[in-house]
Amino acid sequence: MKLIACNANRPLAEAIADHLDCPLTDAEIKNFADNEIFVRINENVRGEDVFVIQSTSRPANDNLLELLITIDALRRASADRITAVIPYFGYARQDRKTDGRTPISAKLVANLISAAGADRVLTVDLHAGQIQGFFDIPTDNMVSLPVMVDDITRRNDVGKLMVVSPDVGGVVRARSFAKRIGADLAIVDKRRPKAGISEVMNIIGDVSGRKCILVDDICDSGGTLCNAAKALLDMGADSVSAYVTHGVLSNEAVKRIEASVMEELVICNTILPSEDDLASGSLRVLSVAPLLGEAIRRIANNESVSKLFD
Ligand code: R5P
Repeated sequence: MKLIACNANRPLAEAIADHLDCPLTDAEIKNFADNEIFVRINENVRGEDVFVIQSTSRPANDNLLELLITIDALRRASADRITAVIPYFGYARQDRKTDGRTPISAKLVANLISAAGADRVLTVDLHAGQIQGFFDIPTDNMVSLPVMVDDITRRNDVGKLMVVSPDVGGVVRARSFAKRIGADLAIVDKRRPKAGISEVMNIIGDVSGRKCILVDDICDSGGTLCNAAKALLDMGADSVSAYVTHGVLSNEAVKRIEASVMEELVICNTILPSEDDLASGSLRVLSVAPLLGEAIRRIANNESVSKLFD
């Protein structure tokens, strides 16, 4: 097995390599002066089972191209099997035509990854499970739920908890959390009058006196979570914190969260947070390296990965 790290999230790749006790393969992945990407794999990969680790997070287009060009280099170097390990699959939110003459970018990106030469994809918490079907190659969509639920149950009195979905689209995810924790479920009725702006219309469920945990797949501007947290406190909740898989954290989202009524935002390390964000007392990061490491080990050994969903 060979592990190759592109540049989006090297600390995660190193943690996966540590977990597997398998060093990262020596590779140069850098930019020419005009910003084009150059890749050279400095070790023989002929006939190897190769895992390329790259989130397509911000800068999304550069990171995507790095992944595609690295896969191309590996294919041309006669790797036996190439698995694109994409802890955060960007462009996933554009997964349907929301208006006339708009793209389905998630499908286009899936096509590009296959066309570059990937044989499999391993990812975490796709924005929508059905995006798996956009790939015509085997795709394992790992869930971070066990990592988060373990943290939630260790730190809280479960009897007081209320799991909250911040929008109707997240109900299936939130219900799985509530079921696993043994907590009740509430739902925020969120509307998006336009991209990047969210408004809370209503709360479904009695949250008074409860310790609310919002769960979501992405925190981008933080607007969804901050608005939901305020509405929950207005409805009598005792406190609100949030567990989100992918910390996209655009436009000073962490500052917005610091200034909000939310106690804490907990994210996974699928996207590398900035130093400033990491220094914030409002942000805590859980590692998915053991989860991804174990999935890689099982894929390499042709073992079942479904056990990791338990
Ligand atoms: C939407 O469907 C997603 O699950 C997130 O709720 C959304 O991307 C969060 O965006 P923001 O943090 O900008 O409100």
